[in-house]
Amino acid sequence: MFQETTMRELNVSPVKMIAEDWALLTAGDKSAFNTMTVSWGGVGELWGKDVAFVFVRPQRYTYEFMEKSTYFTLSFFGGECKKELGVCGARSGRDIDKCKETGLIPIEAEGAVTFEQAKTVLVCRKAAFQDLDPAGFLDASIMDTYAAKDYHRMYVGVIEKVLVSE
Ligand SMILES: Cc1cc2nc3c(=O)[nH]c(=O)nc-3n(C[C@H](O)[C@H](O)[C@H](O)COP(=O)(O)O)c2cc1C
Repeated sequence: MFQETTMRELNVSPVKMIAEDWALLTAGDKSAFNTMTVSWGGVGELWGKDVAFVFVRPQRYTYEFMEKSTYFTLSFFGGECKKELGVCGARSGRDIDKCKETGLIPIEAEGAVTFEQAKTVLVCRKAAFQDLDPAGFLDASIMDTYAAKDYHRMYVGVIEKVLVSE
């Protein structure tokens, strides 16, 4: 069960949450969705709204769901479920049923999908996207990440609901 809170009441480090604990990025609805592990991204303010940023390479199955969906969720597990997140970050939903494989239990949250095991969930409405343009990479080492020229698409989502497990 989840209860609603606000970004300001969340007493956490967003860098730790994303970079160290990882998150699941999920798009679609209960009838058809996909999820994948992310550890790049952020939260902050843009256009006068609380937002989350995620970065998705075009070859991800999740990308297709991100393109089709109005909402996405970022689900955080507080450093738990690392094994399950490892699977969701190494295998594609094109090849396996990630929920069956990991035991993660999908549940609906505001029409989008999260997981029963999540500790914190950001329900986001897609507000904008932008493909990363290598012409803007000032630090040459960034290119090391893109041997395949598979530049991420950044999605900016307005955080519509913040849920925490009871
Ligand atoms: C810790 C970790 C973090 C990741 N972060 C991202 C990310 O921010 N963006 C991305 O496009 N892929 C990221 N990945 C890779 C995807 O999670 C991985 O390719 C996944 O299998 C894609 O699944 P899908 O094809 O079902 O969408 C990450 C993987 C791991 C293990």
